[in-house]
Amino acid sequence: MKEKLTNLLQQTTKQLDEINDEVSLNNLRSSIIGKKSELSSLMATLRELPVEQKKEYGQLINSQKQVLEDLFETKRNEIKQAALKEKLAKEDMDVTIPGINLSDGSHHLLNQVIQDFETLFIGLGYEIKDGPEVESDLYNFEMLNLEKGHPARAMQDSFYINPETLLRTHTSPVQARTMLESKGKPIQIICPGKVYRRDDDDQYHSHQFMQIEGLVIGKDINMTHLKATLLAITKHFFGEDKDIRLRPSYFPFTEPSVEVDVYNGETYIEILGAGMVHPNVLKMGGYDPNVFSGFAFGIGVERVAMLKYGIDDIRLFYTNDIRFLKQYKGGL
Ligand code: PHE
Repeated sequence: MKEKLTNLLQQTTKQLDEINDEVSLNNLRSSIIGKKSELSSLMATLRELPVEQKKEYGQLINSQKQVLEDLFETKRNEIKQAALKEKLAKEDMDVTIPGINLSDGSHHLLNQVIQDFETLFIGLGYEIKDGPEVESDLYNFEMLNLEKGHPARAMQDSFYINPETLLRTHTSPVQARTMLESKGKPIQIICPGKVYRRDDDDQYHSHQFMQIEGLVIGKDINMTHLKATLLAITKHFFGEDKDIRLRPSYFPFTEPSVEVDVYNGETYIEILGAGMVHPNVLKMGGYDPNVFSGFAFGIGVERVAMLKYGIDDIRLFYTNDIRFLKQYKGGL
């Protein structure tokens, strides 16, 4: 009996070695340990044996059966693994499987407007500048003729990080930075970027918004240069037939100062502040106001976008509703 069982084990191990598919494995399994297998016929012979032997051989057969079961199970796993490996290897090579269809994105509308500005101004010979959003009180206010305690600071409610550092309330600090950097040479720059003011958000107000600063410094720069530049912007964005209205205004860093409205067919809508660079600002920036003059402007990017595209709620720019974003695909 023992010999028979050992033979059966050896024979099975050998046969298993030659098998590499599940069907053959199942066939072999039923012939070895199935109902009509060699093992069950061995079981059947137990009936004729005396009780002690019956018990001894019975246990032997059962434990042997378990060994065989384990062998089949191991083999089954090997076959599965091999099949999976083969499948993966094949798929790896299958260049006909269609790719994953990613929907194509686009630039945010505000960035599209900024890009449009940049193209226009590069064409006019301007350089594009950048400045930090976390700014010092010095550049955001003092260098712009707004010393500490100046009442006009109240026009721009601010987010302070410490008494000397804040989130910039406008892009004008880039004026001061560029003047110091340019060391008395003529300047022609625009600077687009985010700005922050403490504000209650509603349809027309956002605590974060975007501006494009413009600064030109040279000899004999006067108000007509400013007006022609503002007109060029207006006609570029809103059409050749559009006109602007300059309203006297006040900014501590420009003198005279104006606010600029565009006529939208019904009313005038304010889109920017501008003016001739204040002599104090020129001086602090290292330019002699008796030799140099300049103009500056600060445009609200959202205002331009809202006017141009008929958008009636500033919050739409910042809430990332995919349906809104998809409406203004472009800029790539
Ligand atoms: N910095 C001003 C503002 O944010 C706009 C401005 C820029 C006005 C440049 C004049 C010159 O309100």
